[in-house]
Amino acid sequence: MIFVTGGCGFIGSCFVLDWLEQADEPVLNLDALTYAGHLGNLAPVERNARYHFVRGDIRDRALFASLLEKWQPRAIVHFAAESHVDRSIAGPAAFVDTNVNGTVALLEATLAYWQKLGAAQAAAFRFVNVSTDEVFGSLGPGDAPFTESHPYQPNSPYSASKAGADHFVRAWHHTFDLPTITTNCSNNYGPRQFPEKLIPLVIHNALRGEPLPVYGDGQQVRDWLYVADHCSALRAVLAQGKPGATYNIGGRAEMANIDVVRIVCATLDEMRPSPDGQPHERLVRYVTDRRGHDRRYAIDDTKIAGELGWAPSVRFEEGIRRTVRWYLDNEAWVQSVTSGAYRQWIEQQYSAGRP
Ligand code: NAD
Ligand code: DAU
Repeated sequence: MIFVTGGCGFIGSCFVLDWLEQADEPVLNLDALTYAGHLGNLAPVERNARYHFVRGDIRDRALFASLLEKWQPRAIVHFAAESHVDRSIAGPAAFVDTNVNGTVALLEATLAYWQKLGAAQAAAFRFVNVSTDEVFGSLGPGDAPFTESHPYQPNSPYSASKAGADHFVRAWHHTFDLPTITTNCSNNYGPRQFPEKLIPLVIHNALRGEPLPVYGDGQQVRDWLYVADHCSALRAVLAQGKPGATYNIGGRAEMANIDVVRIVCATLDEMRPSPDGQPHERLVRYVTDRRGHDRRYAIDDTKIAGELGWAPSVRFEEGIRRTVRWYLDNEAWVQSVTSGAYRQWIEQQYSAGRP
């Protein structure tokens, strides 16, 4: 049994769906169903006898401990987090609560469980901490991509909270020998991503003829990874990763934000032309920059490629075509997640006087 936290979110749901398709092993999913978690993301497996869901908070130590006792998992894959940088700027405290305190609560309960396992089970056990490349800070245009030994220099409340969690995970391995592994991954995109993030926001707005907000000069660079490739990397880490190690995961697809937006617009022009035949790119609007906006992230994936034989398989243009297709075919999902609370966030974030 694999125990997943945050499986109703964007990446966690992809991981659960792929796992149930490709492995025989059951999955237990603990998710609090915050604004970012949706039961509908796992609708295809809700009747699968190997899928189990519990609604609950990772900070609830007693709940987590009782689930470990009951289900006796051989591994934990920890996705649950507050994940949106802009929300961390608008309200940092929730990021400390969930990302730092939540991870520490999991580590405490996991250690108590792991210490009671027999020698063979304890040796095989893994706690995989799904983290981000943002903990490394920002690169200049000519800087070498992040390696696993790049210093932690988090710049946003989000990345600071993820860095904090990573340090606790590291400490639980160093001090208590818990077999932890941390992965630091670049920007994901694909089906079921909440439309507060750049790519689904652009698709959502473009389909409605609404402005496409590009922060600052649009020249910030991210390394884009199709979400299913992230999940295949996590399976490789789970199967062959070394306890105590960290692995960088990237898409080999560095791109400036404005170029990403242009590719999404061109893909929409082809798949769902505007009613007036005008290119979607006409909707682009340069808006006030994100505070403390990191200029560039880039991943050196030499370690995971060499040690685990993993490489991304979906090229950016193909991944974007699949993503746009999914949003066009899943209008009901989009409707269900863009509730009043979503519109409130969009209003707060994109109104002229935002912080
Ligand atoms: P998401 O925001 O889409 O999903 C987060 C999930 O966690 C939701 O289902 C939510 O309900 C759940 N959750 C939040 N707080 C919880 C709590 N206290 N208890 C239980 N469940 C809770 O996030 P995502 O984009 O799928 O990211 C998943 C993980 O991957 C995060 O840890 C994130 O930091 C990391 N990550 C994301 C990206 C990316 O590009 N999206 C890249 C690298 C790493
Ligand atoms: O690098 C990995 C990280 O990628 C993950 O750890 C985070 O959970 C995930 O949210 C993502 O963070 P970013 O801040 O890079 O993603 P986002 O989609 O919010 O923004 C991508 C880039 O686009 C970033 O430079 C900000 C810019 N942007 C974003 C939005 C929402 C815009 O220009 N306009 C926008 O409206």
